[in-house]
Amino acid sequence: MNGIVLIGFMGAGKTTIGQILSQKTGLEQIDFDDLIVQEIGMTIQEYFDQYGEEAFRKRETEILAKSLDLEHIISTGGGIVLKEENRRLLNQMPTVVYLKTDADELVKRLKADKETVRPLVVSKGPDEIKQVYLPRIPFYEESANIIVETTGKTPDEIVETILAEVGE
Ligand code: S3P
Repeated sequence: MNGIVLIGFMGAGKTTIGQILSQKTGLEQIDFDDLIVQEIGMTIQEYFDQYGEEAFRKRETEILAKSLDLEHIISTGGGIVLKEENRRLLNQMPTVVYLKTDADELVKRLKADKETVRPLVVSKGPDEIKQVYLPRIPFYEESANIIVETTGKTPDEIVETILAEVGE
């Protein structure tokens, strides 16, 4: 089976869903944020502070370009769709799933997650977080060939929906 690329906003469940998909399909999971953290040897927050968002985006593009033919479960970072070049690369990949989640639900999850420090939301309130999310929606939609609604669904239900869509 082809690899599956998961895209969606921060808090959409890309890492969690990726882990379950990996167990169910036997395909190895890779997480772009983790790969970048390994490469840069610091946290994403520290990297944003020292080198800026643009430098981080460049690293995302490099990793994406190297992953085009991988038959893996790939969990991307939420901002992967911001660059046109990345959207073009995603369009070349056979299975790109957008985990579509209601904005209020995302805000709730991001505020509840005390473990991950995300530079683009860490000091923002609910409305500001939505202002980051809403303009990205068309980019997620144009980059994906499968859109899965996740609001109100359990991770297992989401994984079943994805597997049904890809014909497994
Ligand atoms: C970002 C999402 C993060 C991480 C970085 C920027 C974004 O990944 O790549 O903080 O711009 O949406 P997650 O979506 O895994 O939190």
